Formats: sequence, C-alpha cells, structure tokens
Amino acid sequence: MKKVRVRLKERSYDILIGPGLFRKAGLLLKRMKPGKDAVIVTNKRLFAIYGRPLAAALKKTGFGVTFEFVPDSEKAKSSSVAASLLNRIAGRDRYKKIFLVALGGGVVGDLTGFVASIYKRGVPYVQIPTTLLAQVDSAIGGKTAIDLPAAKNLAGAFYQPRVVISDVRLLKSLPKRRFRSAMAEIIKYGVIKDRGLFRYLEKNYRKVLGGDEKALAYVISRASRIKSALVSADELDNKGLRVILNYGHTAGHAIEAASGYSARYDHGESVAIGMAVAADIALALKLIGPKDAGRIISLIEKCGLPVRAKGLKARKIYAALSHDKKFVKGRNRFVLPAGIGKVRVAEGIPERIIKKAIEERLS
Ligand SMILES: NC(=O)c1ccc[n+]([C@@H]2O[C@H](COP(=O)([O-])OP(=O)(O)OC[C@H]3O[C@@H](n4cnc5c(N)ncnc54)[C@H](O)[C@@H]3O)[C@@H](O)[C@H]2O)c1
Ligand SMILES: [Zn+2]
Repeated sequence: MKKVRVRLKERSYDILIGPGLFRKAGLLLKRMKPGKDAVIVTNKRLFAIYGRPLAAALKKTGFGVTFEFVPDSEKAKSSSVAASLLNRIAGRDRYKKIFLVALGGGVVGDLTGFVASIYKRGVPYVQIPTTLLAQVDSAIGGKTAIDLPAAKNLAGAFYQPRVVISDVRLLKSLPKRRFRSAMAEIIKYGVIKDRGLFRYLEKNYRKVLGGDEKALAYVISRASRIKSALVSADELDNKGLRVILNYGHTAGHAIEAASGYSARYDHGESVAIGMAVAADIALALKLIGPKDAGRIISLIEKCGLPVRAKGLKARKIYAALSHDKKFVKGRNRFVLPAGIGKVRVAEGIPERIIKKAIEERLS
C-alpha cells in the first residue's frame, strides 16, 4: 500500500493507494475514529458491484452501516438532491455519531463532501473514489460542491475528508472511455510538475491503460503527491499556487463548452486537446522547444486521446474562451509548458497566437 499525506495541520489526512484496499476499509477506518455509524452515499450502479463487500468490511470491525442512494449523473450535484440527502441522513441519525462515506466518482464525492460540511455544521467524511478521475483529482483537496442553475460548482465549501482510500481494483469495472479520459489529468501532472512521471508514462502507458495494478498504483500515487503538495501549500486556493492545475483546462473548458457538453468530447478529451493547444502556444512563444512539445502531443496520442477538435467551430470556442472565469480582467491567461515538468503562467498573449493555435487544431 502506498501512502500520500495531505499536510494541513489538524486537518491533515492520508491518501491510501493500492489493490484490494476497500475490502479492508473497516480496519483502515477504525484507526481514524471517524464515528460509529457509516452512511454510505452512492448510486445504484456502484451499490450493485461494491455495496455488499464494503458493508461487510465495515460491519466486521463494528461499524453500523446504512446506504443512501443518489442519481447516477451530474444531476446528483443539485440543491434538491442535497436537501433530500440531508433529510434522509437526519432521519437515520440515531446514535449521533455518524460519518459519511462517498463511494463513487467525482459526482458522489463532491456532493457527499458538501453535505458532510453542512450537516450539523460538519460531520466527518471519507472518500472511496471509484473513478480514475476521482482518484487523481476530485477526491483530493477538499473542494466540495453542488451545481446551481446559474453555473456548475457554484455552491460549495472547502471541507477535507478524514482519509481517501484509492483502491485501484475498483477501476476494473470503469468504462474504458472514462478511464482513458482521466489519463489526460495524469499526463497533466507530469507536464506541470513531474518529469519522472512523464517519462514513466512514455515507457509504460500500455501497462497503465491495460489496468496493471502496480503501474496504476504508481501513477496514482505520483499524481496524488503533486495535487496534495499544491493543496497543502494553498488549501483555500487563494494564493494562486493551484492555478497550474489548470494546464490544458483553459482551451479545454472552451472546447467542452463548444461541443455543448455533448458526447463528442468529454472533460478529459477536451483537456487533452487543450494541452495540445497550450503546447502549441508555448512553442510559438519559444517557451518550449519542438522536441518537448512533440513529446507531449505524442504521449497524449499514445494514450488514445484526441489532440484535434474535429468538427468544432472556432467561433464557438472563442466565445466560450472569452467567458472563462480564469481570464483575469479581460486579459487572457494560459498555463504553458516550459519543458517537461515545468510550467509558466502567461498573461496577455497576443490574440493572433491563440487563434492560430486553436484553428490549427480544428481539422
Ligand atoms: N472536487 C474537485 O476538486 C473536482 C475536481 C475535478 C472534477 N470534479 C467533479 O467531478 C465530477 C466528475 O467526476 P467523474 O469523472 O468521476 O464522474 P462521475 O462521478 O459522474 O462518474 C462517472 C460514471 O461512472 C460510473 N462509475 C463510477 N465508478 C465506477 C466504477 N468503478 N465502475 C463502473 N462505473 C463507475 C458512475 O456511476 C458514473 O455513471 C464533476 O462533477 C466535476 O465537477 C471535482
Ligand atoms: Zn480536469
């Protein structure tokens, strides 16, 4: 088992990574003393695969266990689902020592963390991420949220879990496209902070994509370490240190929006194209050489991810870009690679360079 510590003084916690960990969840949680009665928040699909063994693992070590189900889509991150969940939890809170367990992807994790942060002004919660995206990104860092009609993630809180249990075996049932999409975030970590991880991916991408448990545990732990370090240094995301996590996300969000959040390019695929766009911009600005830019594009492609936004209209992408909240005071801002493992935040880039980079990736 690999262990990554998120250092936040009294709110510090561990990310535990390895195969088969969720069957030991009872023992792992016992040490954390999160409470007596676990309320496991999940959806019916995940319950059908992992519900019984998780309940058994918790009961074996003396925890009380109940399940609460939420819809299986982004719709679960709504104020109505959050309110209903709060009421159902209150109805079950017999022993007054409950804690919540998020068993699911980023949707379940964000919602459960948010509900945990407001129920009784805060009860402990635990993350058991079941998607690769949640294991390397959303379950780490304490950003919890629900969506409002005005925007995604508009209501939320910073609220850290007691532990994150990243069991790589849970990813076996994950649909292949989702798995691949999350590889974009792992490549991102390599480019922004970790040459070693990048090189490892270049050599071992087949193993990782094939679900090799050792390779997966390795890349998840490297990714978790990078996100944890950034979170430890900037817990509330107000020092500007977490901004580098947006590499690929500026153009990526615009591509995601321009494809109408349809099935054409999902989040990870959009980020993959966004990383290619950012590499092109960096190349045009001579921040990176052609060899390193080529390595980035080539690794994205080897992982089966797109580097071109075929069929999208430049006009739509520009419209979405100009709405990007990360564009400060009308000036554009991009996180650009300055080699492998190093990034620079560049502002006020000439518009023609951005447009050229985007247009060249549209066919
Ligand atoms: N809090 C953060 O810092 C943060 C960071 C990034 C993303 N997010 C949020 O994460 C959410 C996206 O998360 P996601 O990509 O994990 O998607 P998701 O939670 O919607 O899960 C994707 C789908 O896969 C299914 N699934 C999950 N695990 C499975 C498994 N092991 N086997 C089979 N099916 C499985 C789910 O039921 C769902 O249908 C978004 O709401 C986004 O806003 C949050
Ligand atoms: Zn992302």
